[in-house]
Amino acid sequence: MNLNNKKILLGLTGGIAIYKIASLIRRLTNDHNCDINVIMTKSAQEFMTPLIFETFSGNKVLTDMFEKERVVSTRHIDLVSQSDIFLIAPATANIVGKVANGIADDLLSTMLMTSKPENTFFALAMNKNMYHNPFFTENKESLIKNGYNIIEPEKGKLATNIEGEGIGRLASENVIINTLLSANDKPLRDKNILITGGPTREYLDSVRFISNSSTGKMGIALANSAKKYGGNVKLILGPTSISPPKNIDTISVVSSENMYKAVLEQFDWADIVIMSAAVEDIKPTIKKSKKIKKFDIPKILNLTTTKDILLELGKIKKDQILVGFSVETENKIHNSIEKLKKKNLDYIIVNDPNEKGAAFGSDTNKTTMITKDEKIIEKKLMTKNKLADEILKMLI
Ligand SMILES: Cc1cc2nc3c(=O)[nH]c(=O)nc-3n(C[C@H](O)[C@H](O)[C@H](O)COP(=O)(O)O)c2cc1C
Repeated sequence: MNLNNKKILLGLTGGIAIYKIASLIRRLTNDHNCDINVIMTKSAQEFMTPLIFETFSGNKVLTDMFEKERVVSTRHIDLVSQSDIFLIAPATANIVGKVANGIADDLLSTMLMTSKPENTFFALAMNKNMYHNPFFTENKESLIKNGYNIIEPEKGKLATNIEGEGIGRLASENVIINTLLSANDKPLRDKNILITGGPTREYLDSVRFISNSSTGKMGIALANSAKKYGGNVKLILGPTSISPPKNIDTISVVSSENMYKAVLEQFDWADIVIMSAAVEDIKPTIKKSKKIKKFDIPKILNLTTTKDILLELGKIKKDQILVGFSVETENKIHNSIEKLKKKNLDYIIVNDPNEKGAAFGSDTNKTTMITKDEKIIEKKLMTKNKLADEILKMLI
């Protein structure tokens, strides 16, 4: 799908990268025939005047909520519903904070309050310390959780010598345009996608359990991507402190047995099943219903294995595409190919938690993807959000 003749609302906020946007508008209008309406915040106008964007877009730049020569008072709101895409570039920490907290105190933030999250994109650009600020991180995560699209900044030299190198540079024109192109394309429309994420807990009494340190971040990232590409998504999520995205149908489970039952219930519905959950593979043979008293704690804990959910799904698979994750620290390719075959999978994504940036709970991951015909695709270290996009693109 292309961006041809798409109506784009382009919000400019007060970041130094604003000077790059004139060129972006030229690409979107000349190469993709987009109709662009620009909105500038007060701060944005401190950096550049509306004239340049008016000239490149061919449309009047909107700056004021309360225009003197208003013809129809709700025109700004109508513009949002009539547009296909709402892109904020550069997006300041401030605009992210406002949207995440429901603040509508100027024209841009008010228009954003009426936009659909799935059509709205924030191309972030800021100083690296702002980017790492915990309040900003929380606000950004809140946008992601609510279905907004984030175009992450790049690493590199920042605006001034004092800022030096770091993350914060506005993504390149190509990255921004490609993100709009692929998001506009809904290749998973009408597809049912079942995703599992997080750990499971295998209780030995009413309070103690065996588990692992998975956080569910990968499963949540996959669910967000699948939703972005137009899929009907169900997420089966093990116990985690990370709250699942509000716009995604989430089934919460605790034990591997719960997860197995939940997956089986949804299996016939699904066209694609991605098992990213770190299902705990050992459990105590006996679970006491009450807390075991300290003096009764057994010296030896008898353990058994939990049900291998992927293996079971591989046996009953019909037309579904079945994707598994494996955690391997030795002979990872050989062992993963064995798993892929034994479990009748279409793809396996191999994690090595010993690789830098690939640990449980990290925001990044370093993986190798292996296809049914044993094609091996090494992926570089990337964010889990980007990896989720790449995994789904591979399945389409
Ligand atoms: C020279 C200069 C450069 C700035 N660059 C950025 C930036 O890249 N990202 C950012 O979040 N804020 C940046 N700021 C701060 C914002 O302009 C400021 O937070 C402002 O309130 C944002 O308003 P707005 O979001 O309504 O446009 C910069 C400020 C100055 C003076």
